[in-house]
Amino acid sequence: MQKLTNERKNKLKKLRAIQKNAIKSGVNWSLLKQYNLICSFNRETNIKGSNKSLILSIIIAFILLVISVIVSNVFLSVRCILPNNFLVWEATRPVADCVYCQNVTRPVILWDVTRRNFANYSYSSKPIIVKNAIKHWRATKEFSFNMFRKLYEGTAGSYESLEDGCQFLNFKSDLFSLQEVFNMPEARARNAPGQEPWYVGWGNCHPDILSKVRQYYDVPEFLPEDAEYPATENIFFGYEIGAVMHLDYIPRLMWQGQVRGNKTWTIAPVPECDHVCKTIEFYVEPGDVVLLDTRIWYHATRIPKGQFSITVQSEYG
Ligand SMILES: [Fe+2]
Repeated sequence: MQKLTNERKNKLKKLRAIQKNAIKSGVNWSLLKQYNLICSFNRETNIKGSNKSLILSIIIAFILLVISVIVSNVFLSVRCILPNNFLVWEATRPVADCVYCQNVTRPVILWDVTRRNFANYSYSSKPIIVKNAIKHWRATKEFSFNMFRKLYEGTAGSYESLEDGCQFLNFKSDLFSLQEVFNMPEARARNAPGQEPWYVGWGNCHPDILSKVRQYYDVPEFLPEDAEYPATENIFFGYEIGAVMHLDYIPRLMWQGQVRGNKTWTIAPVPECDHVCKTIEFYVEPGDVVLLDTRIWYHATRIPKGQFSITVQSEYG
């Protein structure tokens, strides 16, 4: 068991080194090959002695490698590293009916929304901004980098909850775990002049942390009563660089509350709708909620220089 744990740690170290190289130089054949070889390592160790399974693993790894490279070359023209599930989603999702993005040149902007008048827009695939919807959240005054750092450092098992299946996304940042985020030097954490900007997101899966952070916000009241909601919400925070262009591999529509800072969204149709739909850009301010079907709208975000953005994001559907 100890041997397996050490092997897993070594494997993670190698993967992080590859990710760092990819961030510096872009994804290429050689890096993807290294990535898949390391991903296959653990499987090979566990099934030592079974030649048939080993051959099958190599074939599957090769197919995944080919799909990943084709999709990243053909569909994604951005130089970024994305988790494999994004690539697999793009390769396997149903072909979109372009009606969802036809004639969309800007988001629908709503003010003073109630559940009743939002019903006309519920489950829409059009981009929507609900203005001033979360200004009353305690989070808008009290969420900060230091608040989350104290919460994670003061809760037993907090970082382990992220290793046990709760997602952490580093986008283009060279920070590969929440622990690394909260251990970064204070000057970088506050994006002092000359410091490298950073931007990350994660799910609050630890039950104690989840119940504490939920005291600072609510699921927006205008969302439909009969919708299903996930068991947790995600936090995204950081400076400047935001999220790289991607699709989400999620089962429902996305909502995101802009707690602090401003953010610019760039959204683009899926490739098969390029000829009838446009890439558009919009801007959100603290207190706004963005609603978007991020499974069929490519999306990237950026934050004005010098501003710190915090958002709460989840799904409904
Ligand atoms: Fe996303």
